[in-house]
Amino acid sequence: MTSRRHLLGIEGLPRAELEQLLARAHEYREGRVGGRHLVGRVVANVFYEASTRTRSSFEVAAASLGAHVLNWTVTGSSASKGETLVDTAKNIAALGVSIIVVRHQHSGAAALVARSVACSVVNAGDGQHEHPSQALLDAYTLWRRWGTLEGKRVAIVGDILHSRVARSNLHCLKALGASLVFCGPPTMLPAGLAELGADVTTELDTALDRADAVMMLRIQRERQGDALFPTTAEYHARWGLTNERAAALKPEAVVLHPGPVNRGLELSPEVADGQRSLILEQVENGVAVRKAILEAVS
Ligand code: CP
Repeated sequence: MTSRRHLLGIEGLPRAELEQLLARAHEYREGRVGGRHLVGRVVANVFYEASTRTRSSFEVAAASLGAHVLNWTVTGSSASKGETLVDTAKNIAALGVSIIVVRHQHSGAAALVARSVACSVVNAGDGQHEHPSQALLDAYTLWRRWGTLEGKRVAIVGDILHSRVARSNLHCLKALGASLVFCGPPTMLPAGLAELGADVTTELDTALDRADAVMMLRIQRERQGDALFPTTAEYHARWGLTNERAAALKPEAVVLHPGPVNRGLELSPEVADGQRSLILEQVENGVAVRKAILEAVS
């Protein structure tokens, strides 16, 4: 089992370390290890942005490893009186916390916290930068289905520009041997993806053509300034995973979405709930992956 003090991003992590985390997550997922590695420790969830899956998943994972979990939110905290991120993190660490799991709207926030405290830090999503635990659970979900990601083709579709999930998955899935194609409106495709070894297209049918997995990304209205697409109906027609498009995928192709889903926008409700969908399995697998992460940084 790898040992690392922080998990701030996927970029730069060696393949062997990613595979070790997935293998350990698999042991947790299959019930082969019931470790109580965090008995007597405190894990603090410090979330400056809303979350259902990530915060709850880290809470369930930490509690099942025996930790006490401190859930901190902006509302009701002294951040609402102007206390800074660094002061907040230092004060939470001073309570005797072993691991701070932090989500923040600014890219680089988790790294800033890691530089400011002596305890371990896990990035639960920082601005448009990285969401490493999401990428690891996505990779694990595909690995669990296929046994390998080597040679598999994954289409990542939607609001790539604002997506920390896309950025972490680019590094994670590529490192594990998958090939990637990014697709979305031209206004949501950042420069530089091709230089990082991914294919890029604005034509969804081209992206879906050879895909073994399709990851539909949420339209992040909270990070968009001026509208980046005309109407939701037009977006769904051009870049949404409609029933017709899902039916034309390779027979064994699977559909992922990190959540929360905008039903009828990124994908149809029938596809979200359909046979190809691994959306709830992603959430289920997330607990095992986060146990592996918490153990690795503890
Ligand atoms: N996938 C994800 O980060 O979901 P939450 O925002 O609900 O945590």
